[in-house]
Amino acid sequence: MTGRTAESKADFSRIYTRPDPREFVAALAPLSYQVPRLARPIVEEELAGRTDRPVLDVCCSYGVNSAQLRCGVDLAELADRYADPALAALDPAALTAADAAFFAQRLVAPEVTVLGLDASAPAIGYARAAGLLADGWAEDLESAAPSAALAAGIADVGTVVCTGGVGYVGERTFGRLLDVLDPAGLRLVVFVLRVFDYGPIAEVLAGRGLVTEKRPGTFPQRRFADAAEQEAAVHDVRARGLDPAGREADGWYHAECFVSRPA
Ligand SMILES: C[S@@+](CC[C@H](N)C(=O)[O-])C[C@H]1O[C@@H](n2cnc3c(N)ncnc32)[C@H](O)[C@@H]1O
Repeated sequence: MTGRTAESKADFSRIYTRPDPREFVAALAPLSYQVPRLARPIVEEELAGRTDRPVLDVCCSYGVNSAQLRCGVDLAELADRYADPALAALDPAALTAADAAFFAQRLVAPEVTVLGLDASAPAIGYARAAGLLADGWAEDLESAAPSAALAAGIADVGTVVCTGGVGYVGERTFGRLLDVLDPAGLRLVVFVLRVFDYGPIAEVLAGRGLVTEKRPGTFPQRRFADAAEQEAAVHDVRARGLDPAGREADGWYHAECFVSRPA
């Protein structure tokens, strides 16, 4: 992470590595975390007529984007679901089995195959067992090249999606992915908080023949957890020459959406 945001952004690392998503949902739903829901129609637009190749969700966590894309289930609905005392009482294995049945029942886009990459092995394990990911890999491409299994597993990916990931991952991860993905016909849909600069990643993509354009507008990602996050974000977007009025100044992290396609 960069800027003052690196020092002040709430540390959620603990909720990323639990055996199931209950703590993730309990921490982020009250902050109105909603970028996967806002991403869905844009990803669907890019996927139209292209679902013959899988989607790779980078920083997929517990499969939140797959829950949106395949099942139309968002974080707010999951928060309501997990508030049910009968579900809250389940151990992680039983909860995962119950979620697998729930997502299977809610499946609306079976033609969309989602693969996942995340540093968290428990999150990947849950998302595979819950049927959200057809396959997934717990690897950190900031620190190492993809394993042979990951490289082989994502060779035919047609679309890369990333929400809430840039900042944790940067040009190293995208460069290493592009070393193994086939850039022919590849598209990337990446939502990036305005506190971060997507330029270095877009440059890596340009080096592989992919042209990046920013979608119009901004997308409210979540409310700030505290005043320190907000002050840092307002500082960092100003430092990037952006105006925080009506966005970060009003209490919300806002993201920009970048879509990359072959030239
Ligand atoms: C804010 S969550 C976003 C989850 C999901 N994409 C969403 O929008 O709901 C960030 C995720 O990035 C993952 N992560 C952090 N550092 C990473 C790295 N170096 N490589 C891969 N994943 C990483 C975390 O484990 C966590 O699941």
